[in-house]
Amino acid sequence: MTDAKVSGTAVRADDDYPWDRTALRSELATVSQEPGATKPQPILAVDNVVRSFGGVTAVDVAHLEVQRGAITALIGPNGAGKTTFFNLITGFDKPSSAKPRFGGGNGPFATWRFQGRSLGATSAFRVAQTGMVRTFQLTKALSAMTVMDNMLLGAKDQPGEHILTALFRPRWKKREAEIRAKAEELLVRFKLDAKKDDYAGSLSGGQRKLLEMARALMSDPAMIMLDEPMAGVNPALTQSLLGHIQDLRDRGTTVLFVEHDMHMVRHISDWVVVMAEGKIVAEGPPDTVMQHQAVVDAYLGSHHDQDLGDDSVLDEDFEQAKAQEDAERGERTAAEPDGEKA
Ligand SMILES: Nc1ncnc2c1ncn2[C@@H]1O[C@H](COP(=O)(O)OP(=O)(O)OP(=O)(O)O)[C@@H](O)[C@H]1O
Ligand SMILES: [Mg+2]
Repeated sequence: MTDAKVSGTAVRADDDYPWDRTALRSELATVSQEPGATKPQPILAVDNVVRSFGGVTAVDVAHLEVQRGAITALIGPNGAGKTTFFNLITGFDKPSSAKPRFGGGNGPFATWRFQGRSLGATSAFRVAQTGMVRTFQLTKALSAMTVMDNMLLGAKDQPGEHILTALFRPRWKKREAEIRAKAEELLVRFKLDAKKDDYAGSLSGGQRKLLEMARALMSDPAMIMLDEPMAGVNPALTQSLLGHIQDLRDRGTTVLFVEHDMHMVRHISDWVVVMAEGKIVAEGPPDTVMQHQAVVDAYLGSHHDQDLGDDSVLDEDFEQAKAQEDAERGERTAAEPDGEKA
């Protein structure tokens, strides 16, 4: 799909959707703002995904389409079912509405298609192989492993793990070198290269989020799903994370992310999907979606009164924010010499 897989920076050949952000947004502006609206080029289409825990229905999505090449925000009050939805779609959990393996049951059954491929009964590992990867609300970077080893774990096909290819060592060695080069490149991009031999456990919360994102990119995903990538990240690093997410989209990766902070949502999303009590209740462009009555109702008593603050801080130049972040990181390292394992 990419013409230079290893670099991770290649532009896809099959670019049948608008790369230009303005063009993409004007195309999305023609989309109906009804829940489950049809998109011009959906990369993911979900039907009848229901998940109940005991008597509580956590997720009940009748239909949802995610536009290829866009940044889509999935928002909704606490407990709306966003994380459960991510778990279901990526194979970490199974819908209650899954079609029974040996027949029977009452439909409609859960189905979802990613890049035209049906993923209903696919394990998390295989889902990732099809090009849909996700990060977790609570970071899952392995603390007792180095940053580099965390990255290497993210690679899609490590031939060394396969008994037959392991016999052909020269080929295996070449691939391993490619994987390592790619990890190095991503660590530079996410400014974690100086930390590559440190234990992931020594990173700050924000750096761990960056590591998770970088690791997810090791497999050249077509779509990345980020569950609260900004949570617990200090403001300086937030700027950088936002820049990285926009950068992903600009390189052709579809992004679906969960976020509570409406600043972030408005600042970077091309489209917003609102979930409440397991259902999609509204969809629309970020500047108008919050005006839907269903959204106001969903947020009443929860996030409705949240501080929407000053958006201008988010319009700072990305480079300037990165420079500030570097300076602060320098101070932090100087202040915490134990953090550095040379
Ligand atoms: N393993 C589980 N067992 C029982 N109930 C669960 C389980 N996982 C989630 N739930 C319930 O499902 C509902 C949806 O939870 P979920 O974590 O998906 O919400 P969320 O939208 O991600 O919330 P938040 O914004 O707080 O992260 C909640 O009522 C939650 O208590
Ligand atoms: Mg959640």
